[in-house]
Amino acid sequence: MRKVPALGWFVADPVVARQIYNDSTHFSIVSEGAAGHWWSQVIGDWVRDLFEGPGHTELRTKVRDLFTLTHTDALVRRVIGPDLRDLRERLAAGETVDMAARAQILVGRSVSDLVGMRPEDIAAAIGGDPDADQDALFLRLFHHVEELVNLGFGTMASTTLDPVAVARARELATQLAVNVPVAYERADPDTTLGRCRELGLAVEHAAGLAILMAVAGTDTLASAMTRMVAIMHDTDQHRALLAAPHRLPDAVRETLRVTSPAYLVGRSVTADVRVADRDLKAGDHVKILTWTINNAAGDFDVHRDYNPETRQLWFGGGRHLCLGAQLVHSELTALLEALTAAGRPWEIVHRRYRRKVFIPTYESLRIRLA
Ligand code: HEM
Repeated sequence: MRKVPALGWFVADPVVARQIYNDSTHFSIVSEGAAGHWWSQVIGDWVRDLFEGPGHTELRTKVRDLFTLTHTDALVRRVIGPDLRDLRERLAAGETVDMAARAQILVGRSVSDLVGMRPEDIAAAIGGDPDADQDALFLRLFHHVEELVNLGFGTMASTTLDPVAVARARELATQLAVNVPVAYERADPDTTLGRCRELGLAVEHAAGLAILMAVAGTDTLASAMTRMVAIMHDTDQHRALLAAPHRLPDAVRETLRVTSPAYLVGRSVTADVRVADRDLKAGDHVKILTWTINNAAGDFDVHRDYNPETRQLWFGGGRHLCLGAQLVHSELTALLEALTAAGRPWEIVHRRYRRKVFIPTYESLRIRLA
């Protein structure tokens, strides 16, 4: 753990990281230097309760069952099952497929469904024709959310946004939530908006939550999906998996470890505290170097077993541990099953990195079966 002038404390140790995640007396997610602070400027100060107050515990308790493996496996089968079947068939027929676009569409479909937004709600928000071309609609959605996420650039030293960034972030967020009041009224109780309604959460707050979900679950998951395909190819681990198919859950865990799309997580110190023999002062910032910690174990290896020290630090820890973790597992598992169904490794025909993005990913990743 080291202090960098003007930036704060950088943590590259899994045990210290977990200690910080578990200590909500001295560390906050909503003060300057952490994600909740960023959000309160965009959505409103009420999100402080959603992130850290009694509202946080209540909401997490009420939606917990929507994020269990049984529920997320069923969601994946129902919502992206047909897309994955199509992917499998195209690959088996020798076609070349762009996995970057595919990932963006898969994620758009599943996160919208989880929230309780139908394609027509998305179209009302950002334009497009859900009847004519749903793939195009979800690609638009990805780019809309990505622009919002990219406003996180430049927040390393301070999460206080300049007025231009705040205005643009509010514009994008408001547009995204335009149809939330309609969706909120009719959403199935088995969706996040439906649960918010049953909880009696005000519709504006439900809209804020819908935006948060979209932002938390879109770029991160699409990044993991696309980079899983590229890294497994580049390290020949796709062949290792084909030779040992029972290691598929390990390949999913390795994907999350090696990609760690939420590569840095911020906290602010709210009261003086001693951690790892260092004195942290109220007002200091802390950056947990998730990617660095997770990658210290080595390269992608489907034969690597669960590491009790890092556990699943790619999903954070403590009371803010990623709510979408099981959905991520269900989706990566289903995608990997589709990619390996023919029993042949894939090859990369063409790749281009996506530039100037907050979460690293591919602009294009065209693959076909060898
Ligand atoms: C590979 C994909 C993903 C990664 C790596 C990831 C990572 C993380 C991390 C590190 C945190 C903790 C942030 C902190 O403590 O400041 C978090 C929180 C969260 N994630 Fe994810 N996430 C992913 C996908 C998703 C998905 C698909 C959803 C839902 C649709 C989701 C919803 C959330 C929510 C709601 C929180 C806030 C939880 C809370 O504060 O109680 N995430 N995620």
